[in-house]
Amino acid sequence: MAKNYITFRDLSIDEYAHVFSRAKKLKAERLRGQYLRPHLGGRSVGLVFAKPSTRTRISFNCAVSELGGVPLAMNVSETQFTRGEPLSHSARVFSRYLSALVIRTFNESELRGLAERATIPIINALTNEQHPCQVMSDVFTFVEILDGRPLENQLVAWVGDGHNMANSWLEAAAVFGFGLHLACPEGYEPDQTILRKAINDNPKVKLMRSPAEAVAGAGAVNADVYASMDQNEEYEKRLKDFKGYQVNSELMAKAAPGAIFMHCLPAHPGEEVTDEVLESPASVIFDQAENRLHAQKALLEYLIPPL
Ligand code: CP
Ligand code: NVA
Repeated sequence: MAKNYITFRDLSIDEYAHVFSRAKKLKAERLRGQYLRPHLGGRSVGLVFAKPSTRTRISFNCAVSELGGVPLAMNVSETQFTRGEPLSHSARVFSRYLSALVIRTFNESELRGLAERATIPIINALTNEQHPCQVMSDVFTFVEILDGRPLENQLVAWVGDGHNMANSWLEAAAVFGFGLHLACPEGYEPDQTILRKAINDNPKVKLMRSPAEAVAGAGAVNADVYASMDQNEEYEKRLKDFKGYQVNSELMAKAAPGAIFMHCLPAHPGEEVTDEVLESPASVIFDQAENRLHAQKALLEYLIPPL
């Protein structure tokens, strides 16, 4: 059975420690100009997208190439998925060609359906439920910035929609033991099962309404768009419902001294976060984007056995 990465909890804290240490090494090597590693030895990795993507698509393409593999990126509309080929068939077909399948789609159940019959790792490149590759890279970014200070003593604040990113942060708090305060408007809370399990595993996880309360004393403040890719038709309603859920300089001032601002991007400046915060020294958004590449290289190296 191949090891999958479908939810953040699919790796243990020890496995993350290994992946982060490899990511750090791969990042340092790349900065010295050593891009290529032989790990994949010419093997191919499929990258299937049922939703738009800039960062995930490019970072995984680069990651596979730099590991000595061949990235095969395709929009789902170019495959037989959209014509109803059974997942159980697709899973076995992909497994005959590829070393791993990275897939961005709507429902996690599609990834689970593929994983049931695939003999290669299935990697979640974002679903409506989770975005584990992003949060893995974000935790790696925070650890880098903490520079040896213990992550479990930190408080992370989440301001806004309790959607895929918030769910993955909940699982991250459960795995790593840091505090997590989420401020979500009524009706936009995270997945109840993920939330309950996270609170059960880590009593420092708290759901609240007030962004000011959530941010108080936090070392990292997170935001995401009001309307995710699967919620475009709710955009106008959400603009109203998320009133007051904006990360601005006034809100950042309530966080811990030296707090960072994080956003998975793409951002909508002036909505969930002001341009002033995005462009401030506290903002680490482009480090997060860069670290997608390093962390995903380490993840691929870990999940795909060497030749
Ligand atoms: N953060 C992220 O996943 O960006 P893309 O949608 O551009 O891949
Ligand atoms: N929550 C956002 C994240 C984008 C990377 C979305 O699903 O559109």
